[in-house]
Amino acid sequence: MLAVVNCGQLVTVAGAARPRVGAELQDVSIINAGAMLVRDGRLAEIGSRAEIEPLITADCEVFDAGGRIVMPGFVDAHTHPVFAGIRPDEFEERIAGVSYQDIAARGGGIQSTVRATRAASLDELTKIGKRYASWFLRSGTTTIEAKSGYGLSLEDELKILRAIKRLNAETPLRYVPTFLGAHDVPPEYRSRRDEYLKLLIEEMIPLVAREHLAEYCDVFCEERVFTADESWKILSAARCHGLGLRLHADQLSLSGGAKLAAELHTVTADHLEHTDAEGIAALKAAGVQPVLLPASVYALGSSRYPAAREMIEAGLGLVLATDFNPGSSPTTSMSLVLSIASTHMKMTPAEAITAATINAAYSLGRGSELGSLEPGKNADFVIHDCDDYRELAYFFGIEHAWQVYAGGRLAFSRADASSPLQRQ
Ligand code: NIG
Ligand code: FE
Repeated sequence: MLAVVNCGQLVTVAGAARPRVGAELQDVSIINAGAMLVRDGRLAEIGSRAEIEPLITADCEVFDAGGRIVMPGFVDAHTHPVFAGIRPDEFEERIAGVSYQDIAARGGGIQSTVRATRAASLDELTKIGKRYASWFLRSGTTTIEAKSGYGLSLEDELKILRAIKRLNAETPLRYVPTFLGAHDVPPEYRSRRDEYLKLLIEEMIPLVAREHLAEYCDVFCEERVFTADESWKILSAARCHGLGLRLHADQLSLSGGAKLAAELHTVTADHLEHTDAEGIAALKAAGVQPVLLPASVYALGSSRYPAAREMIEAGLGLVLATDFNPGSSPTTSMSLVLSIASTHMKMTPAEAITAATINAAYSLGRGSELGSLEPGKNADFVIHDCDDYRELAYFFGIEHAWQVYAGGRLAFSRADASSPLQRQ
């Protein structure tokens, strides 16, 4: 058994067993001066020090949080974490004024990562993926949704999904796999896109589902990528094969994504930078959770953030995620996402934390196991080197995670923890 004692603010995010909406987003259920007991990888008891400390037995390992805040690990519900190569040249082009869409139109962007990823072996992708897994963990993230989508052939998409499976087994980070074979139309199918749709629907989706390599299917619904009609066909096929549905919707233009997500009752509609009031109302009526990705807006140098406050007012179960990928969002940092959400989308730090933990867990079908500190849940928790949970969004550009536990085991410890400049 493990006891975590001397937690300053124990930010439990406990509450209703469903995505939090409206004013509930603001309630992160803090226990001041708290403690917790962990047994067999799960949270056993959570309460005030006075309640918990008498339960500590002699065989218990005791960890002193030193008055720091303790929170659930972040659940990052939208990432593209398996790819080869990086794109700093395009980063410089964008600095010089070339748009993300123009880079994509001339064969850069997603296609340049597809070329590098196709050339990499399963072992190489796993090795590269482990480096990024360590970045997620040191940012205080313990679960990620992981999309394929840089293979765009049967063989290469399977290779990515197998890399995700290996990363899930070989790292402390939890991965929830999503098939994103419809991330783009690969170059060899550009003049015959119907055949690529056929490949997706008749071969890739059935095989991925049969081999249990993904839980969800996603489509990049966007001008010059997949139309709403094509997205409908792909997602309908995925549903027939038992996959849950997610959708990249209205990221770069108002392309009918939110409405399509509502029509199909997808679990999530992601991005939504261009979604209007009608789209928000449709998402609400259909019970779709929005996954907002402000780090991609920031990294593309745009100022068009999704309308988070309107979505909260409409009663949607908002989720925040990084969108980690080598093009539009090269960051694994959820604390950076919290900061941007507060500064640019006017979400309070508490609302942002709820969106990045329990609401994200529900969007991945893991609401009863992850996302809050409540008895019976997985002991995925983070000790952040802060006195007040609001510091996570306030002191930006700082990784606050100090000790990260997944399933009750230490998954990351800040290497300089013994530095004399750190608090004791
Ligand atoms: O979510 N929108 C599509 N896909 C990614 C970008 C991928 C890339 O540029 O490599 C996104 O932003
Ligand atoms: Fe994405």
